Amino acid sequence: MKLLKTKAGLKGTLTVPADKSISHRSIMFGAISHGKTTIHNFLRAEDCMSTVAVFKELGVKIKEVGQDIHVEGVGFQQLKAPNKNLDAGNSGTTMRLVLGILAGQPFHSQISGDASLNRRPMERVMGPLRSMGGELQGQEGSEFPPIDIQGKKLSSITYEMPIASAQVKSAILFAALQATGTTKIIEKEKSRNHTEEMIKQFGGTISVNDKTITVPGGQQLTGQEVTVPGDISSAAFYLVAASLIAGSDLHLKHVGVNPTRTGILDVLKEMGADIVETAIDQKNQAADLAIKAAPLKGVAIGGEIIPRLIDELPIIALAATQAQGTTVIRDAQELKVKETNRIDATAQELNKLGANVEPTEDGLIIHGPTKLHGGVVDSHGDHRIGMMLQITALLTEETVELTNPEAINISYPNFFTDLASLI
Ligand code: S3P
Repeated sequence: MKLLKTKAGLKGTLTVPADKSISHRSIMFGAISHGKTTIHNFLRAEDCMSTVAVFKELGVKIKEVGQDIHVEGVGFQQLKAPNKNLDAGNSGTTMRLVLGILAGQPFHSQISGDASLNRRPMERVMGPLRSMGGELQGQEGSEFPPIDIQGKKLSSITYEMPIASAQVKSAILFAALQATGTTKIIEKEKSRNHTEEMIKQFGGTISVNDKTITVPGGQQLTGQEVTVPGDISSAAFYLVAASLIAGSDLHLKHVGVNPTRTGILDVLKEMGADIVETAIDQKNQAADLAIKAAPLKGVAIGGEIIPRLIDELPIIALAATQAQGTTVIRDAQELKVKETNRIDATAQELNKLGANVEPTEDGLIIHGPTKLHGGVVDSHGDHRIGMMLQITALLTEETVELTNPEAINISYPNFFTDLASLI
């Protein structure tokens, strides 16, 4: 498809779609709790619908009631053995977190995904779940889905994480809630903490001391009312577009600003972006963001900030192509095992349009500023690469054409309509 263009920048007000990570978890916590959970502002995108389908197959009643979603919680005790293979689609979050739940269930199940998900590493989750007593087996040396799970009675572990991953941490937390004894997880770097926050919100017990998380087993949770804030990972595309395009004056409403997710705000501000947070909603960890165009400069990005902006690195790389000087992204080797290899895809596609982006073993080196031109680019079947390329197209005089644009439906089905309303 031919991508959208603008001359005047991004202007107006937008409510970005609901947070994907919190939407997945709201269904999962609703299912394993007792009583009803009501979800306001649930993200109706392909990834989260995969989570809904998996829990329906596990016997949980999930209904749309007006704009809300109602989940009739069954607790850990009443999930049902599925009648067919569970399909996580493209969603790593669905597969990895559900493994933590299924590892402790008294039945056999199998879970797989689409071609992309079936090539993503799963031993990182299965390893610790096996040490807790779960029986899990994948394909090809057990690394890849489909995964067979024979649920067992689990016991607690102390686990020092070799990688910073909220998905691995969350799978262990779901297993720990069902286990006997108290589980301790020591994070490598602090990653998004939505699972920890929701354990508290659903009436559970958890203690977090810097990078050490302690959770007693055998917990019973209670259904809640959840309001999902806007997704800062979706807001990221507008933050960068409005920062780069002269004349922009944009307001984004009720964006989630949980500190484990706001690395992009820190980096863009350090690059010189004009972003102001207002209307802070402490309860839902959300704020409105006002953005105006500003000249950007290159920065060094690495270390503890990486998990706080891991999904935003492709769009940050685009910002860097327009910044004065060199931007170096390090410690981001995890990008290689996302929906596609995002180090290679980002460098390859941006370079097709005239950028100077070098892929490295653990990140990217971007020399800016570069004038970008038209061409034909590909999403690599990855929603965030597709959206980054649409924002890139706003910067070129010539037309940019995108192949495989439908990947964007994974997290943001209304992306093109929303963007069109601002340009
Ligand atoms: C997510 C965690 C991150 C992130 C993904 C969503 C989550 O993955 O990239 O988009 O909801 O827990 P990792 O845990 O593999 O870093």
